[in-house]
Amino acid sequence: MVELNRDVVIVGAGAAGLTAANELKKAGLSVAVLEARDRVGGRLHTDVIEGAMLEIGGQWVSPDQDALIDTVAELGLETFSRYRDGDSVYVGPDGVAKRFTGEMFPVSPETEAVIAEITERLDAMVAEIDPDRPWAHEKAAEWDSISWDAWLRAQTDDDEAVRNLAFATGSAMLTKPTHSFSLLQSLLMAASAGSYSHLVDADFILDKRVVGGLQQVPLLLAERLGDDVFLEQPVRTIDYSDGGVTAIADGMTVRARFAILALAPNLYPRISFVPALPRLQHQMHQHISMGFVIKVHAVYDRPFWREQGLSGTAFSPYELSHEAYDNTNHGDERGTLVGFVSDQRADDVFRLSAEERKERILESLSHYYGPEAKNPIVYYESDWGSEEWTRGAYAASFDLGGLHRYGADLRSSVGPIHFACSDLAGAGYQHVDGAIRMGRLAAEQILQEARA
Ligand code: FDA
Repeated sequence: MVELNRDVVIVGAGAAGLTAANELKKAGLSVAVLEARDRVGGRLHTDVIEGAMLEIGGQWVSPDQDALIDTVAELGLETFSRYRDGDSVYVGPDGVAKRFTGEMFPVSPETEAVIAEITERLDAMVAEIDPDRPWAHEKAAEWDSISWDAWLRAQTDDDEAVRNLAFATGSAMLTKPTHSFSLLQSLLMAASAGSYSHLVDADFILDKRVVGGLQQVPLLLAERLGDDVFLEQPVRTIDYSDGGVTAIADGMTVRARFAILALAPNLYPRISFVPALPRLQHQMHQHISMGFVIKVHAVYDRPFWREQGLSGTAFSPYELSHEAYDNTNHGDERGTLVGFVSDQRADDVFRLSAEERKERILESLSHYYGPEAKNPIVYYESDWGSEEWTRGAYAASFDLGGLHRYGADLRSSVGPIHFACSDLAGAGYQHVDGAIRMGRLAAEQILQEARA
C-alpha cells in the first residue's frame, strides 16, 4: 500500500478534477489525483473503433462556454465547425420526413405560433433565473413543484407543440422523461446556456468540435500533473476531521489537508465517509440521479446525405432517435452520423438483442436520411449506463422538487471536503464548461482557506 502526504487529494480525473488540480499546483500546493478508471477524462472519451475515431462521450463546444473555450485555446487545441450546409429534416406525427431551414420545425402555422409564443415566455422566465441560484427566484418553490410536462400541457393542448418544446430540455439535455423533473430544473438547464432559445438552436449549442477529440483536454491537463495522477485507484473511504482528510483507495492512502470530490454526485454514496456525512447530504444525494441516453455512431464510406442537399441535422419527438447530426471528423473522407436515443426509449431498446437494437436504431436514422443510412461500415453505441464510474449520461439532475429543496447546499463543503463536477454548475451546467468552472471554484475556495 502506497502512502502519500499532500496538501489536496482530488478524487476523479475528469475535466473538473484535473482543472482543480492544475490550479492548485500552479498556486504552489501539492496534489494527488486518484482516478478509479484506467484512463483520465471521465465522461470525455475519444477512441478509435474499427478504424473510426469516435467521440464516445462529450464533444461539442458552444460559443457561451468561455471556460472551455479558454482551456481549449490555452492547451493549443484547434476547433472546427459542425457541418451544417443544406436542409435539416423533421419527422412529424404523420411519419413523413420534411425538409426545413432555420430553427422552426415545419409544423402547421397554428403549431408554429404556439411554439413561438411559449418560447418567448420561456425566454422571459429564464432571463429572471440566476443559473448559480435558481432556488432564489421568488417563484422557485412553485416552479419546482410542477413537472416540465405538466407545465407545458397547462399552456396549450397542441400535442405537437408540447412535444417539440419539451424535448429541448428533456430527451436532448436532461435525458429523463419530462414528467420526472420540474419546470425549475428545465429553466436552470436553459439558463445555464443563456436562454431557452439557445438550447433549441443546434447551430449555437452544437457549434464546434475539437480536432482530434475533446478527450485531449483532460489528457493534456493530466500530462501537466505528471506523476501526481494515479489511475485504477477507486477511492473507497474518506476519513475526515477539521484537521484534514485521509483518502483510502484500492492501492494507496493519501493524507491531505483538503479533498475535492470531483465525481458525479450520484456516486458520492459509493464512498464510505468516516464520520458519516451530515444528515442534509445523506438526504440530498438521494435526490440527484443520472439521466440516460445512448449516443449512436454510424460511419459510412462517404457523407451520402450531403449529396442530397442535407446538412445531417434531424429532429423528431416521434422517432426512436429524437435527434441526429453530421458528426464527420475533421479532414475525414468518410461520413459519420451521430444519433441519440433517450430515457425510457433507451431502456426499451436495451431489452432487445444487440442485433435488433441496431436494426431499430438504424431504421429510425433511415427515416431522416433514406435507406442508405441502414448500412454503415462502423456502428457503435456509447452506453454510459453500464459504466460503473458514471452510471448514465449525460449528467445528473434533481428529481421533482429537489432543486428548490437542496440546490443551495449542493456545493457547500463539509469540513475539509469540497465538491466539484459539471453537475453542480450554474453556467455550463452538465457540460464540460461547467466542470471546468466548478474545478476552478473548488480550487479557489481551498486556496482561500489555506491562506486564512
Ligand atoms: P466526470 O464524470 O467526467 O469525471 C469524474 C471522474 O471521477 C471520472 O473519471 C470517474 O471515473 C471518477 N470517479 C468516480 N468515482 C470515483 C471514485 N470513487 N474514486 C476515484 N475516481 C472516481 N458536454 C459538453 O460540454 N458537450 C457535449 O457534447 C457533451 N456530450 C456528452 C455526451 C455523452 C455521451 C456524455 C456521457 C456526456 C456529454 N457531455 C457533454 C457532458 C460532459 O462530458 C460532462 O459534463 C463532463 O465531462 C463531466 O466532467 P466532470 O469532471 O465533472 O465529471
